[in-house]
Amino acid sequence: MTTKIIMDTDPGIDDAAALTMAINDPNIDLKLVTAVAGNVTVDKTTANALKIIHFFGKSDQIPVAAGAEQPLIKPFEDAARIHGESGMPGYDFGDDYGEPIKKTAVEALHDAIMAEDEITLVPTGSYTNIALLFSEYPEVKSHIKQIVAMGGSLSGGNMTSSAEFNVFTDPDAAKIMYNAGIPIVTVGLDITLKALLTADTIEKLGQMNEAGKMLHGLITHYNDGSNAGRPMHDVNTIFYLLHPDKIKTKEMWVDVQTDGPAIGALVGDIRGAYHDGKTNAKVCVDIDADYFNKWFLDEVSKIKM
Ligand code: RIB
Ligand code: CA
Repeated sequence: MTTKIIMDTDPGIDDAAALTMAINDPNIDLKLVTAVAGNVTVDKTTANALKIIHFFGKSDQIPVAAGAEQPLIKPFEDAARIHGESGMPGYDFGDDYGEPIKKTAVEALHDAIMAEDEITLVPTGSYTNIALLFSEYPEVKSHIKQIVAMGGSLSGGNMTSSAEFNVFTDPDAAKIMYNAGIPIVTVGLDITLKALLTADTIEKLGQMNEAGKMLHGLITHYNDGSNAGRPMHDVNTIFYLLHPDKIKTKEMWVDVQTDGPAIGALVGDIRGAYHDGKTNAKVCVDIDADYFNKWFLDEVSKIKM
């Protein structure tokens, strides 16, 4: 039984790796990719999503729709210092990688979700498209099984000491998503900074098939982490879907700080003391990092190029 998903993404090097896993794993059925401004501007994130899908020969099967150019309220701030000006440096994808569909991301999300009894949303950029979707088409919520979202942290941020990039980029959208009444799995820095891709794993990628060589090219131009290890933040969402037994989670109510110096911080009711026992998220709090590295290499080695 495959898991039907939609990825809303801002490629981005780790997004490209997450798309690679989602496109090629037989247990995942990737129905649609929507792009959002984040790591780089939305014209570039859209083009980068198209490049990855074209690289794997899936341009006729997996549509890409362009989404929000700006966060809902907060001024846009990219992460080109981490992902390069293009968002995906280090590999030549050529210039013939197709076009996005004419629908906007919100329209494409609405149509793709309403076509399924239940589907999983996997946002790996800011949540602007998701918030706009819920505001414009609230009826989609009953068709969404869960949201497995890369973003946030209960153990310190990477933009400020409190806030992680995806939530920091659009905290107002994150608040709408966390209050939408849909089960959320929070795939935050709490685990993505533990499951670092080791230098040995990265070196082995470069000696593999063309998919490995492509990822090696991108990851060796990635300015997150250190030579001791590179965080594949977004890949952890797909790893969760395929191996939830390798990740420890804790259910709690999660709020989002939308103003002040801690803007973009997630605030977890870790003792269940302040929301009448209600919870809105399963927060990922630990991961088997060794297994993640082995799985990453194994997944890529199975890709027939
Ligand atoms: O904080 C990490 C997140 O921000 C990842 O999704 C990365 O791609 C960037 O979007
Ligand atoms: Ca991302």
